Amino acid sequence: MEASKVWIWCLTIFVLSLIASCKGEEEKAESKEFVLTLDHSNFTDTVSKHNFIVIEFYAPWCGHCKNLAPEYEKAASILSSHDPPVVLVKVDANDEANKELTSEFEIRGFPTLKILRNGGKNIQEYKGPRDAEGIVAYLKKQNGPASAEIKSVEDANNLIGKKVIIVGVFPKFAGEEFENFIAFAEKLRSDYEFAHTSNAKLLPHGEPSVAAPTVRLFKPFDELFVDSQDFGMDALENFVEVASAPMVTVFNNDPDNHPYVIKFFNSPSDKAMLFLNFSGDLFDSFKSKYHDVAVEYKGKNIIFLMGDQETSQGAFEFFGVRQEQAPLIIVQKNDGQKYLKANVEPDQIVSWVKEYMEGNVQPFRKSEPIPEVNNEPVKVVVADSLQDFVFNSGKNVLLEFYAPWCGHCKKLASILDEVALSFESDPDVIIAKIDATANDYPTDTFDVKGYPTLYFKNASGNLIQYEGDRTKEDIVNFIKTNSGKVSQEEESVKDEL
Ligand SMILES: *[C@@H]1O[C@H](CO)[C@@H](O)[C@H](O)[C@H]1NC(C)=O
Ligand SMILES: *[C@@H]1O[C@H](CO)[C@@H](O)[C@H](O)[C@H]1NC(C)=O
Ligand SMILES: *[C@@H]1O[C@H](CO)[C@@H](O)[C@H](O)[C@H]1NC(C)=O
Repeated sequence: MEASKVWIWCLTIFVLSLIASCKGEEEKAESKEFVLTLDHSNFTDTVSKHNFIVIEFYAPWCGHCKNLAPEYEKAASILSSHDPPVVLVKVDANDEANKELTSEFEIRGFPTLKILRNGGKNIQEYKGPRDAEGIVAYLKKQNGPASAEIKSVEDANNLIGKKVIIVGVFPKFAGEEFENFIAFAEKLRSDYEFAHTSNAKLLPHGEPSVAAPTVRLFKPFDELFVDSQDFGMDALENFVEVASAPMVTVFNNDPDNHPYVIKFFNSPSDKAMLFLNFSGDLFDSFKSKYHDVAVEYKGKNIIFLMGDQETSQGAFEFFGVRQEQAPLIIVQKNDGQKYLKANVEPDQIVSWVKEYMEGNVQPFRKSEPIPEVNNEPVKVVVADSLQDFVFNSGKNVLLEFYAPWCGHCKKLASILDEVALSFESDPDVIIAKIDATANDYPTDTFDVKGYPTLYFKNASGNLIQYEGDRTKEDIVNFIKTNSGKVSQEEESVKDEL
């Protein structure tokens, strides 16, 4: 994972964990198993016999998988009597023997669910709920037509109003536009709901008489509906992407908002985030000013989110800001740079965002405090001391990027202690570590893809990543070789000869 993407990943994880934590208690699994167990030996064969089949990749040690198991089993038992039956499968992704399968399906987390169609020819991400009832409803829908026909006002009312839905209005259900619309619905059916009608009068908003094919996107926020008449595949995709995003994404504990929050963090745009207490007196005033800037900068590669302080503890930690600094705006650029306005007032929002957009705000750097005492063998480096310690010190510095939760880092810690002790009498060698989760570092200089990552900068400024074995001997040798010590000694030996 690219370092610049790590933060997005972390935020997504805390959003997901929040969603997961809302789930109910486990229920007892039934005695007969409806979920099929497949492995590498019978996977392809089984899948090829089904038009529609659901696969769960799980790991035996994964807690979310254990929570899902009884719900998944219950859903499988209900769906076994669906007409036609829907088959649910599980694959142990932790089993070495299934490795080829998990890499083919690019499984990176657990549990991951996929829907396979046409004997496995089409693969679709499962994006539905994780409780039995929700799984059943979602899969029934996924197994039906991609777009539902609206034939009455009642149909329309059942579908429209609660979430984003894309409705095609066609004088007749034929022709290139209609075919494109259905193909498009098929392609994006796991992300959005689709419907079509020949009578725009049935729909709750918009022009009731539609002469030419029209796609009308309904949403429960902002302007409530948007029309487009461009039925090219790319045009449809762009239209839905832009029209379905809220002007301001709201992040609180309302699960209906979470899909938008995930979309927000997955977006390649720069991100502005206002964190404040949603129950505070000034909320309405903040909301309206913030909405104004979102409208003003729409389409200018920056998107806007407003987060409730209470739900956003993880974000505060992640960005290294304190509760007392709220209300605050953080802009996170795609290159990793951050900009902060702490204790912002409603009337300062417009002017601060303007200053930022004009390039007049200095980036903000997350840092732990510089330690007052730093006399352990392995020195502690923080963002605010990184430059002095590593680049201005004129020394040979081995720097470890670690995360407090990382097991490999804990193992390495004692080895680094020994390495540091063996250079104790050499004032030109420093062994240091930086908590990469609590401190920003220049991502164009340090490419940290995982933890621990070791970099070595020698006295003349040459910077290289250490990729050898994590043993004391190898690290010590590496430092000696790259500090030029060895060659200097060799030279002096030669001189003596
Ligand atoms: C697939 O093979 C595994 C291992 O041999 C077996 O446990 C499982 O029951 C098989 N599944 C089916 C549906 O045949
Ligand atoms: C938010 O404001 C409400 C009402 O003033 C207050 O009761 C609550 O403690 C505040 N929450 C935080 C996180 O400051
Ligand atoms: C630092 O490393 C570079 C590249 O290997 C080397 O040319 C240079 O001599 C080294 N400097 C010292 C002081 O060892």
